[in-house]
Amino acid sequence: MKISFICNNQEINTEIHPATTLLDFLRKNLFLTGTKEGCREGDCGACTVMVGELSGNEIKYKTVNSCLLPIGSVIGKHVVSIEGLNVEGLSPVQLAMVEEGSTQCGFCTPGFVISLSAYFLSNKDYIPDEAIESLDGNICRCTGHIALKRAAIRSVEFFNKHKGESLVSSGLLPSYFSEIPARLKKLKSKIKSNGDGEKTNQYRIGGGTDLFVQKWEDLYKSDVSFLNNNGLDEKIYVSGNECFVSASVTVTDIMNSEILLKYFPDIKNYFSLFGSLPIRNRATLGGNIVNASPIADMTSFFLALNSKLLLISGNTISSSLGSKPKGREVLLKDFFLGYKTLDKKPEEIIQQVSFGLPSGNSLFSYEKVSRRTYLDIASVNTSMSVESNNDIIQDIHISAGGVAPIPLYLAKARAFLMNNKIDSKLIAEAARIAVSETSPITDARGSVQYKKLLLRQLLFAHFLKLFPTKVNYEELV
Ligand SMILES: Cc1cc2nc3c(=O)[nH]c(=O)nc-3n(C[C@H](O)[C@H](O)[C@H](O)COP(=O)(O)OP(=O)(O)OC[C@H]3O[C@@H](n4cnc5c(N)ncnc54)[C@H](O)[C@@H]3O)c2cc1C
Ligand code: FES
Ligand code: FES
Repeated sequence: MKISFICNNQEINTEIHPATTLLDFLRKNLFLTGTKEGCREGDCGACTVMVGELSGNEIKYKTVNSCLLPIGSVIGKHVVSIEGLNVEGLSPVQLAMVEEGSTQCGFCTPGFVISLSAYFLSNKDYIPDEAIESLDGNICRCTGHIALKRAAIRSVEFFNKHKGESLVSSGLLPSYFSEIPARLKKLKSKIKSNGDGEKTNQYRIGGGTDLFVQKWEDLYKSDVSFLNNNGLDEKIYVSGNECFVSASVTVTDIMNSEILLKYFPDIKNYFSLFGSLPIRNRATLGGNIVNASPIADMTSFFLALNSKLLLISGNTISSSLGSKPKGREVLLKDFFLGYKTLDKKPEEIIQQVSFGLPSGNSLFSYEKVSRRTYLDIASVNTSMSVESNNDIIQDIHISAGGVAPIPLYLAKARAFLMNNKIDSKLIAEAARIAVSETSPITDARGSVQYKKLLLRQLLFAHFLKLFPTKVNYEELV
């Protein structure tokens, strides 16, 4: 496979194995050793780089963990490592880090500089809390995060004072950045599709955030293909009463979707608990579902919408989202047959996920509890969509993660709740039935008793939040 992209100011053309991680390619082939190798699991941020993609005449930059990024997924893109941000002297971000004492051993520093610079590159309004949030996923073991937060705030003050100036003239970016859009356009026109047709490759890579943690040593010796090479612009759309979501959407796409925000106004809060920003920029819906972890967060959300999957044969998610499927449809709640066992043939991939649009009487709630609030997977998560009329439940779907070998759809609790009037007694009994549907195990995320209790409390939380005048905590317990 021929791989062409721009790295910093240099065009790269290589035939290296496409599952080589960008981290290894930068360090071992290009000798750009400013990008550091820490955990190699997406947890520390030492390897963070920016990847820019053409969108019209502009380039949209996102941070990614290069330790989990196969080089085959940067074809036609602009990769920016820390060396690519070298300007005369220090950039305003680097200066802020020095002046606030935000660096000691320096191991984490390139990752922090990349993340903070990417914040200024990909936003128009600069807000201190958001700049600090953009550092999530970057861990410093020796300086302390307070000095790093001060550097983020100081940088925001600097760029707010220099609003209106380009980021090249305010000293953040070297001047070659202004030529990148034209250079990428030219490069993209030269690149030929590397489609593998209907052949079933040994590994089919979505965002790679599960695969490259679990199997990176196998991947670069295997036959691989890339599921998301279609350059889809419109990944989420509504047709009739249904919403269609491409399996290639990332968590970031979901959080920024105006369509989803309209129906689920709290969606940004739900998914801000998913991994870190660089992970959210890569983790796809299809990967979340097919990885089949019992605590998968996107799966939890879409299970509670009683979503449908469209499975097609092939290696690439096709660019035609739509309601007239050529593949096989399966309800998400029927897709999980047992621990990591799916109703999916080897040649099938998920093309899209669809669900009926919530009506005006519908409400949605999502709850996740993990041992650490941020950058942690759930001990237990649960989502619920409920449609009611005069407090009578017309329709309801509830998911529960971390309490069974599969992401669980609470069918018995639904059957019990349907067409009943919401009050504390009903909800207490529904929670008892829901807990009886589960079969958690004791593991690092908690004991059987703890997980059952947690699920009960989170189900109470759904109803207390959505129906505060109908349900009373004292009457529930
Ligand atoms: C640091 C870190 C933090 C994380 N935090 C969370 C978290 O908070 N919550 C959470 O739920 N997960 C979390 N994850 C797990 C992971 O990010 C998600 O499961 C993610 O959605 C996987 O998607 P992907 O595209 O990266 O999958 P990949 O790794 O590319 O693929 C995973 C599997 O799915 C298959 N696949 C991918 N797309 C399709 C498709 N369309 N059709 C058929 N098969 C497909 C692949 O072949 C592979 O077998 C975390 C991971 C890391 C490394
Ligand atoms: S090396 Fe730790 S996130 Fe990549
Ligand atoms: S300065 Fe040493 S790890 Fe951050």
